[in-house]
Parts: sequence; C-alpha cells; structure tokens
Amino acid sequence: MNKSSVSKILRKLGLIYYSDKLMFHVQKQKNKKINNEFLAKNPGVILPPDYLIYESFQINYQKYYYESRETALWLKGHFEKYIDVENKNILDWGCGPGRVIRHLPEVIGKNCSFFGTDYNRDSIEWCKKNLKEISFNVNPLSAELPYPDGFIDIIYGISVFTHLSEQMHYGWYKELTRVLKPGGIILVTTQGDNFNVKLTELELKEYNNGNIVVRGNVKEGHRTFSAFHPEKFMKSLFRNDEILEHVEKKPEPGMSWLPQDLWIVRKR
Ligand SMILES: C[S@@+](CC[C@H](N)C(=O)[O-])C[C@H]1O[C@@H](n2cnc3c(N)ncnc32)[C@H](O)[C@@H]1O
Repeated sequence: MNKSSVSKILRKLGLIYYSDKLMFHVQKQKNKKINNEFLAKNPGVILPPDYLIYESFQINYQKYYYESRETALWLKGHFEKYIDVENKNILDWGCGPGRVIRHLPEVIGKNCSFFGTDYNRDSIEWCKKNLKEISFNVNPLSAELPYPDGFIDIIYGISVFTHLSEQMHYGWYKELTRVLKPGGIILVTTQGDNFNVKLTELELKEYNNGNIVVRGNVKEGHRTFSAFHPEKFMKSLFRNDEILEHVEKKPEPGMSWLPQDLWIVRKR
C-alpha cells in the first residue's frame, strides 16, 4: 500500500489530524539539533511558536527565516518584471506566521505598504505583536477581505489555493481581483503536474481530465486539506484576466520536496 492510499484511509477514519500532530512531534524532535544551533547563532531573531511554523511550513528555523528571505527576493524579481514596485500596496494572502512578508519591508522597501491576511487567528495575533511594519488582518475561511475595491497593487499567495475546495477557488479569486487595482498582478503557487506522483489512480484520472482534485474529510484551509491543480482548471479560473506566466519547475535530483507551479496573472 502506498502513502496516498494510507492517507486516504486515515482521512476517511478521521485520523489524519492525529497522524499530523504526531508528525509535528517527529519533525520537532528530528530538527532539534539544527534548530538549537540556529538559536545559538541568531539570538536576535524572533520566531513564532513551533506549531505555527509547522502548520504553515516546516519546523526548520533556518528555512523559516533565511530561505524565506530568498523567497522574498524571488518574489521581488517576479514583481519587477511586470510592475513598477514603488509606492505600492502589497498583500500576502495566507501569510501564516509571516515567513515571507516579514522580509519585504527590507527586501522591497521603496515606500511600499505591506499587508498580510490569514484565516488562522493565532498566526495573525503573533504577526500583529511581532512584525510591526506590516498591517495584518484575520479573514474568514470564505472569501472576504476588508480592503476597498482596487486598493492593492500586488497580491501573492504561496501555497494557499493548495488548501481550498473548488468552490473557494472561485470565491477567493473573485475577492482577490475585487481588491486588486486594474493592471495589478496576482502571483500564486499551486500543486501542478509534479504532484501527480502523489495521486491515486482515480484522482489522476480526474486530474488528467482537467478537473481540480481535492482531498477533504478534514477542516478546509488546514495543511492536511489538499488540492491539486491541472493547467486547464487554472486557465479557466483566470479566464477573464491576462496570464503573464505559468512556470512548472521540475524537481532536481536530490530534492526532498516537489516544486509547486507558479502563476502570475494581470487583472484586466
Ligand atoms: C502552506 S501554508 C503557507 C503559508 C505562507 N503563505 C508561507 O508561504 O509561509 C497555507 C496558509 O494558508 C492559510 N489559509 C488557508 N485557507 C485560507 C483562507 N481561506 N484565507 C486565508 N488564508 C488561508 C493557512 O492558514 C496557512 O497559513
């Protein structure tokens, strides 16, 4: 029996939360040494509680803090291809405990204003207390943001659609484009073809027909709720706007993770 089938059974039995909690403790223990080394070398870095890091990423302080600065630089490079990144309002949708947005004031600066939103109240409480240069907001799971129409110039959502149902994709894309200025850009990552190896035979059939595949039976939005996105589905989601880029980075030998697809879209 492969991993996907085990996960399917655990999901059906309502046991996936327990196995995920167990994974939290396993990962924490496994990374204890490198995380202690990080703390000794970086006494000034403020970190979120371990569970918040785990829920949105993985408990590896080095990756949470330093690799995410690389991600911030990577984002900046993509934004600059399509928009003059000065005096702009930039929103991190599904920011979690601030892994990426915390670096943007330093990495981008340029008189921009930074906003972060997430449905996870604990993550946002931590961000509000600790990342003072950024404005944070708790949103409901359903598509609702407090910003006026056309208020934001750039939105990015790293691995957020990956935890939502099909219906939520439509609702959220509509809401994101409501708060985005015409000509503004949205950058999101999704679980594309690289993730085919994780799908069961039945799921793969659905995926190859161009339909989104959703693994539910857990609370939507949680890390264990997973969605897989064929190109056809994403193209149809973005059909009213201009797709600027779709990048499918292939996994390199020795990589322990699967790269997500990158989509950059301009609001018409
Ligand atoms: C895999 S984590 C990624 C977190 C962050 N983007 C990062 O790259 O570190 C997914 C994030 O999406 C958030 N999320 C899930 N559903 C959401 C929703 N409906 N609205 C806002 N955030 C949501 C989760 O709380 C979590 O922080």
